[in-house]
Amino acid sequence: GNEGVNAAKRAAAYAAVEAHAGEGMRVGVGSGSTVVFAAERLGQLAKEHGWTSVVCVPTSFQSQQLIVEAGLVLSDLNQTPELDVAFDGADEIDGELNAIKGGGAAHTQEKLVAANAKTLILLVDESKDTGALGTKWAVPIEVLPGAWVVAKAALVKAGATSVVLRMAKAKAGPVVTDNGNFVLDAAFGVIAAADVAGLEAKINNIPGVVDNGLFAGLASEVFIGRSDGSFEVRR
Ligand code: A5P
Repeated sequence: GNEGVNAAKRAAAYAAVEAHAGEGMRVGVGSGSTVVFAAERLGQLAKEHGWTSVVCVPTSFQSQQLIVEAGLVLSDLNQTPELDVAFDGADEIDGELNAIKGGGAAHTQEKLVAANAKTLILLVDESKDTGALGTKWAVPIEVLPGAWVVAKAALVKAGATSVVLRMAKAKAGPVVTDNGNFVLDAAFGVIAAADVAGLEAKINNIPGVVDNGLFAGLASEVFIGRSDGSFEVRR
């Protein structure tokens, strides 16, 4: 149930932060429900140890709130362009540390922050470890609002079997990202690990695409939590 999933997320997030965070570090903070536990643990450690010079860069409105609520110092990539580590969740991971992200429509800023961190640490519960990307999730693709129809057609040409404009739940209309754009969810079937980087680049080459949720080879480690509170690290 939900409790088990939360225990798994907490186990992964706490262990990752305990292993990788320290005084003086510049930390990227991802988005979603798992990273909530990472921000919480980082705030606790900073208080316990009296760390005063940890600086955090968010990846969304939500993650900005997490940093503030944890009592941590908020920065941005313009002020803090080099990060020591970034912690983030993922929607799906494979055996080669590739990931699908963007279930929360935050993948563009997440990739930007991750790409400028020395180390990206992903935090997941075991349900995300599906063996191959595309098993459960389509690829989220942020597009300019004026490009969604042509980008959708280009994605079909590029091999997508279905492309859906993500719709909002509490509003009549599309999801609008923190950057003011739309999200297309494009299914490409099961994506072999060797094909992830090529597909990531191919999608980003379509005019009007801002960035897609494939993260090929960006992560250094994935902490995989289980509902009994144990975890495994994949490197
Ligand atoms: C946000 O757009 C996503 O990339 C999240 O990082 C991802 O969806 C993981 O979220 P959960 O931790 O809530 O599953």
